[in-house]
Amino acid sequence: MPLIPMYQCLKEAEKGGYGVGAFNVNNMEQIQGIMKAARELESPVILQASRGALKYTDLTYLKYLVQAAVEANPEIPVVLHLDHGDSLETVKTAIRLGFTSVMIDASHHDFETNVRISREVVEYAHEFGVSVEAELGTLGGIEEDVAGTVQLTDPDQAEEFVARVGCDSLAVAIGTSHGAYKFKGEPKLALDLVQEISRRVQIPLVLHGASSVPKELVDAVNAYGGSIEQSSGVPVESIKEAIRYGVRKINVDTDIRLAMTGAVRKTLFEAPEKFDPRDYLGPAREAVYRLVAQRMKDFGSAGHARDYTPITLEDMKAHYKRA
Ligand code: G3H
Ligand code: 13P
Ligand code: ZN
Repeated sequence: MPLIPMYQCLKEAEKGGYGVGAFNVNNMEQIQGIMKAARELESPVILQASRGALKYTDLTYLKYLVQAAVEANPEIPVVLHLDHGDSLETVKTAIRLGFTSVMIDASHHDFETNVRISREVVEYAHEFGVSVEAELGTLGGIEEDVAGTVQLTDPDQAEEFVARVGCDSLAVAIGTSHGAYKFKGEPKLALDLVQEISRRVQIPLVLHGASSVPKELVDAVNAYGGSIEQSSGVPVESIKEAIRYGVRKINVDTDIRLAMTGAVRKTLFEAPEKFDPRDYLGPAREAVYRLVAQRMKDFGSAGHARDYTPITLEDMKAHYKRA
C-alpha cells in the first residue's frame, strides 16, 4: 500500500487502544531492521526523519530508501513523518519529498508565537492532505538547550492551543527528555497530565523522548569498549499506562542508537580482523530489528497492520476541506 497519513494511523490506534512506535531513521540498515520487525509482527509503523537525518541523507537518499521500504512491504501501513520541523521552509521540503506527516516544533517560543507558527504550518500542510503534529511545553535535552527551562504542558493552554491551531496530534511534555540521560534517579513522569490533556483536547497525543535506555543495551556498549553512563529511561510500563490514557505515537531514537552501537562494537571487538561493513552493519540491523519488534509488542501495535484500508492524501485534502 502507499504511504498512509499520520491522521489515519493514529485514528486506527485510538480505535484499537494501542500506540504506534515512531522510529528515527538515517540509513538503510535502520529502515530495514524496522521494516523486518513490522513485517514479522504485522504492525503499522512510523518512520521519522529529523532535520539532521534529511541533511545526512541529502534528502533524495532518504526519499528512495523509504520508497524501497514501502515497495518491499506492500502489506504494511507506513507513515513518513518529519520529526522536529523547525520552520515552514523545512515543512515544505518534507512535503515536496513525499512525507505524509510533519511536526512543527515551535514549543520553545512563547504561546502566541507557537500558535501563529503552528497554525501557518497547519494551513499549508492540510492543503496537501498532510497531517500535522504540533508541540506545547518543553522537554529536557535538545529542547532545554533552546528554552533554558523545562515546562510541562498545561491542560488549559493545551485546550486553547489545539482549538486555535487545528493540529492533528499534540506532543506533550510530561517529564521526558531526549537522549540517553533522562533521569538521575527514579523516573518521574506526570502521567496524570496525559489523562487530563487527552480528555480536554480529544486528539491523539505524542510522547517524545520515550526511549527506555535498557540496562542490557548500555551494558552491551560498555562491555566492548564503550563508555556510556547508565541512567534511567522511560519505563515500558509507564509508556503502556500513557497509551491507556491517550498517547498514540511514541518516539524512539536513542534505544536504536544504543542497540546498533552495541552490535557494531561487539563484532569489531570479537573479530578485529574484520573490515567488511556488512560484517558489522548486518548485526547492527538485526539489533534494530530485535529492539523494534519488542517495542511493537510493548506498545500493542503488533498484529494491527491488517486493520488498515489505506486512505490517500487526496482523501485527506477532501477531509480537511469539509472540516
Ligand atoms: O529528537 C531528536 C531525535 O532523536 C533526532 O535526533 O536531530 O540527532 O537526528 P537528531
Ligand atoms: P529518545 O531520545 O528518547 O529516543 O527520543 C526520540 C525523540 O523524541 C525523537 O523525536
Ligand atoms: Zn523528539
